[in-house]
Amino acid sequence: MRALVTGASAGIGRAFATALAAAGYAVTAVARREDPLTGLLAELGPGHDHLAADLATPEGVRATAGLLAGGGYTVLVNNAGAAVHGDFAATPLDHSLAQLDLNCRAVVTLAHAFLGAAEPGAALVNVSSTLGHTPKPGLGVYSATKAFVTALSETLWHEQKTRGVHVMALCPGVTATASQDAADVPAWLVQTPEEVVRRAMSALAGRGGPVVVPGRGNAVLTGVARLLPRRTVLSLLGSDR
Ligand SMILES: NC(=O)c1ccc[n+]([C@@H]2O[C@H](COP(=O)([O-])OP(=O)(O)OC[C@H]3O[C@@H](n4cnc5c(N)ncnc54)[C@H](OP(=O)(O)O)[C@@H]3O)[C@@H](O)[C@H]2O)c1
Repeated sequence: MRALVTGASAGIGRAFATALAAAGYAVTAVARREDPLTGLLAELGPGHDHLAADLATPEGVRATAGLLAGGGYTVLVNNAGAAVHGDFAATPLDHSLAQLDLNCRAVVTLAHAFLGAAEPGAALVNVSSTLGHTPKPGLGVYSATKAFVTALSETLWHEQKTRGVHVMALCPGVTATASQDAADVPAWLVQTPEEVVRRAMSALAGRGGPVVVPGRGNAVLTGVARLLPRRTVLSLLGSDR
């Protein structure tokens, strides 16, 4: 059994790589920086490999898609993603477009390569966010990319289930990783990457989905937000702006 994890060198992706290796998968770990990837492989032991690739570039996506299109992968975790904070109009356009490339374009291309070669029993996990349900002012493009990932995953879940291929949108809330400043967030709402991945692995085993929101607090808040008027949710989430 082989699994490819993008953004595997840190945070949620690293926790996925570790959990999948422990579950018996041979892991291909993908990220930009070589050093953290080789550090991860040293921890995982023999039988795993890595690819240094920038998934915000066509070359990086092509190299990674090439591996997947060759077949033999049972699991793809499309995890690499980035968020640019700030008012949209005041943010350089290039920063927003790079987010689209990584969070959407790479996800679509890798999903397509994986599903084209996937056998029954295979699984695709697209890491989205609770912000895909509840867009946050100051994170407009990021929230929109995650809404895209969730919607895409839901339709793929439906399309692929007759083939026996499982698709999941994993929608974490605030997770304590290097790229996430959780200082202002109540501790009961913050999860560790390991907690997020434990929930994802159990949902994968039970073929749960198509949308998995780890953490009771996140599930409750997302459910409540759906019942509130949209402008109320925007005011609450944008209260710091
Ligand atoms: N942390 C949260 O609170 C949270 C909440 C909801 C959803 N999420 C989502 O969960 C996923 C992982 O987030 P995280 O917080 O675990 O991230 P993280 O700790 O910042 O780690 C990001 C990983 O992605 C890799 N990466 C970043 N840009 C890349 C690129 N252009 N090409 C290839 N790899 C790249 C990084 O390695 P290199 O720098 O070496 O490339 C690293 O391995 C993302 O999709 C994020 O949107 C996170």
